[in-house]
Amino acid sequence: MKPTIRTLRACVLGCLLAFGAAASATDIEVLHWWTSGGEAKAASQLKAILESKGYVWKDFAVAGGGGENAMTVLKTRVVSGDPPAAAQIKGPSIQEWGAEGVLASLDKVAQVEKWDSMLPKVVADVMKYDGRYVAVPVNVHRVNWMWVNPSVFKQAGVEVPRTWADFPKAAEKIRAAGFVPLAHGGQPWQDFTVFESIVLGVGGADFYRKSLVELNQDALRSKTMEQAFDILASLRADIDPDAPNRDWNQATAMVINGKAAMQLMGDWAKGEFTQAKSQYECYPAPGTDGAFTFNVDSLVMFEQSKADVTQGQLVLASAVLSPGFQKVFNLAKGSIPVRTDLKMDDFDACAQKSAADFKAAAQAGKLVPSIAHQMAVPAATAGAMQDVVTQFFNSPDASSADAVIRLAQAAKVR
Ligand code: BGC
Repeated sequence: MKPTIRTLRACVLGCLLAFGAAASATDIEVLHWWTSGGEAKAASQLKAILESKGYVWKDFAVAGGGGENAMTVLKTRVVSGDPPAAAQIKGPSIQEWGAEGVLASLDKVAQVEKWDSMLPKVVADVMKYDGRYVAVPVNVHRVNWMWVNPSVFKQAGVEVPRTWADFPKAAEKIRAAGFVPLAHGGQPWQDFTVFESIVLGVGGADFYRKSLVELNQDALRSKTMEQAFDILASLRADIDPDAPNRDWNQATAMVINGKAAMQLMGDWAKGEFTQAKSQYECYPAPGTDGAFTFNVDSLVMFEQSKADVTQGQLVLASAVLSPGFQKVFNLAKGSIPVRTDLKMDDFDACAQKSAADFKAAAQAGKLVPSIAHQMAVPAATAGAMQDVVTQFFNSPDASSADAVIRLAQAAKVR
C-alpha cells in the first residue's frame, strides 16, 4: 500500500509513542501544586498514565493554593539551568516563559493529533507561543462558583442567595442559626478569587473584561468598581475570625462539616466534596448566572538536553488529551474536560452545567478569563492588583473610593 499523508502522520505519532513506551526508566519531572485531597487524587491519575507509558513520574509538588509558591520555586530552578520537564503554568505566563526561550515545542504531537480542531480556540491560543504549541491544556475550571451545604440552609430556614442584594439578609439568618455564612481562607489569592466573582456579579461580563482584562482606567476607577469593593467589605462580617492563613481546602471542609453555609471558590473545591462523599450544591456566584470565568490548567514543557526526556514530554502531552485521561482526571479534579467532543454522562450536575455554560457563555460573549488564577493579565500586574484587594479586605477602615484609585494604579504595573 502506498503511504498517504494520513498514514505517514499516524506513523510519526505511533512510532513516537511506541518509542516512548519502550524507553526504560526515564524520569519525567513534573512541577505542580496539586496537594489537597481532590487535587492529589487527580495528580495520581497523571502519574498513572505517564507510568503506563513506561516512564517514571518524578513528583515536584510545591504546596500552596493558587500556585504562587510553585512559581517562585520554578524560577529558581530555571535560572539555575535545571528546569523540570513539565510544569503547571497558565495563561499569559506561558507567553512570558516563551519569551525567555526556554520552552520546548509540542507541535509534533499537536499537528498529528489536530489540536487546533480539538480544542476551543480561546484555549488553543493561550497554549501557543509564537505560533507553536508549548503547553498542553489539562482541563477547564470555572471560578465563579458558590458551593453550598444544603442542610445548613435548611436548618437556617433560608434560600440560597442568587444576587448580592439578597446576600446580607441570607447571611444574617445563617449567622443567627449559629453557622458561619461564608467559609474563607485569608490568603491573598483567595481574597482575589472572591473579588473577581463580585466584579462579575456587579458589573457583568463586559465590565469585567473592560476592567480586569483590558485594564481600562475609567472602568477600574468607576462607581461600579467601588460597589464591588463595598460588597467585599461587607463580607468581613460573614467570615469567622480564624480565616487568616487558612488554606482553601480547610475552608471547603467547613462547608463539608456543616460549620459554614457557603464558599466562593472555583470547582477544584468539588474535588474535596466528592473525595469526602459529602452533600453539596453549586450555584453560579451571586449575579453571575450565564457568565463564566475560566481557568485552564496546563502543562508547559521546558527544553531538555536528554532526547529520551524530550520524547517523554511528547508522550505525556499526547496522553493528557486522550479521552480516557480527560475523564478520570477531571472527575477527580472537579473541572471539565478541555476537549469539547467528550460525553459528559459520567459527570455530576455541576460539571454538566459548567460544560453547557462554557459553550453558551462563549456564544453570548460572557466567557472571561480569571484574573485571580493567572489567565487574564501578566503575573506582575495581577500580583499588584491582588495586593490592593487583599490589603483592602484586611483593613476594616479602608475606603472603597481610595481602593479603586489604588487598583487603577496597580493595573499599570508590568
Ligand atoms: C489551579 C487549580 C488548583 C487551585 C487551588 C488554581 O489556580 O488552577 O488547579 O486546584 O488553584 O490550588
